[in-house]
Amino acid sequence: MKNRKGIILAGGSATRLYPITLAVSKQMLPVYDKPMIYYPLSALMMAGIREVLIISTPAHLPSFESLLGDGSRLGMRFEYKVQEKPIGLADAFRVGEEFIGEDNVALILGDNMIYGSRLQRLLQAANNLQEGGLIFGYKVADPTSYGVVEIDKNGTALSIEEKPEKPKSSLAVPGIYFYDNEVVEIAKKIQPSDRGELEITDVNKAYMEKGKLKVIPLGDGFAWFDTGTADRLSDASDFVKAIELRQGIQIACLEEIAYKQGWMKREDVEEAIKGYKKTEYGKHLKSVLDNEELDYHEIYEGELFDFSE
Ligand code: DAU
Repeated sequence: MKNRKGIILAGGSATRLYPITLAVSKQMLPVYDKPMIYYPLSALMMAGIREVLIISTPAHLPSFESLLGDGSRLGMRFEYKVQEKPIGLADAFRVGEEFIGEDNVALILGDNMIYGSRLQRLLQAANNLQEGGLIFGYKVADPTSYGVVEIDKNGTALSIEEKPEKPKSSLAVPGIYFYDNEVVEIAKKIQPSDRGELEITDVNKAYMEKGKLKVIPLGDGFAWFDTGTADRLSDASDFVKAIELRQGIQIACLEEIAYKQGWMKREDVEEAIKGYKKTEYGKHLKSVLDNEELDYHEIYEGELFDFSE
């Protein structure tokens, strides 16, 4: 099976969040108790992706390097690369060409968060895709500020448009995309759109036209947030807070995921806990080691609930 690498696109100018983002990277802002980039990074980790390229602006890339380092403390490998100008999401595959090499790739936007009980299963399944492209669809009340995909009953994509004035469906496309290696060549051929950007939607269109685009609609059990405006950022924080306090869990706890993936040893997690001192994050990590708690999701996923006999 082909290896898949991950890219987090964490640049852009985030003008909609001014003045917060005048001097600070948007993807570094707190979403409740963690820097925003932890959430998309955790999604790649749950998918099983261990090598990640972080792309940001010349001004902000150093802060990501100082936050995340080379990844070795998580049993991962991180690389960093500057995007000189925010010329569009498809530019990620040009900037990342060397990093991607011969492998398949997943792109996640540094300001997107997905949460759901079956998320890990779903991401792992997506990661197993060998050929073509795979995107998700999420029903929203107003899809006009997103990529919008129209599908038939079999989940086949019929059309995909970027920020349409008259959307053909209510399925917005979240900022997480799985592609085979061909995406590098496809991205090179993309021309700037009317708004002057190299659109990820044009990459998806290219896959769709070859009949190689899978669309997975995310049902009720998922929450998807992008954090593009102050209101949506605050909604995302409220959501994380509500779930974490109610359930006594941590969303996007990187060491927990790395440990459960078998990438971090127990001793390494113990060492990390010392650094988090008395934070809820640190306490949670300790409980992960102490209890080795049952993974309730796994039970729910299993065959236990067949009451048909
Ligand atoms: O959030 C999902 C949506 O993201 C998709 O539904 C759309 O199809 C896709 O085009 C994108 O739309 P946005 O208008 O939200 O993209 P935005 O320009 O805000 O960029 C998304 C993130 O990527 C943002 O955190 C900044 C970063 N970025 C953006 C561009 C254009 C970069 O790092 N480099 C860039 O060149």
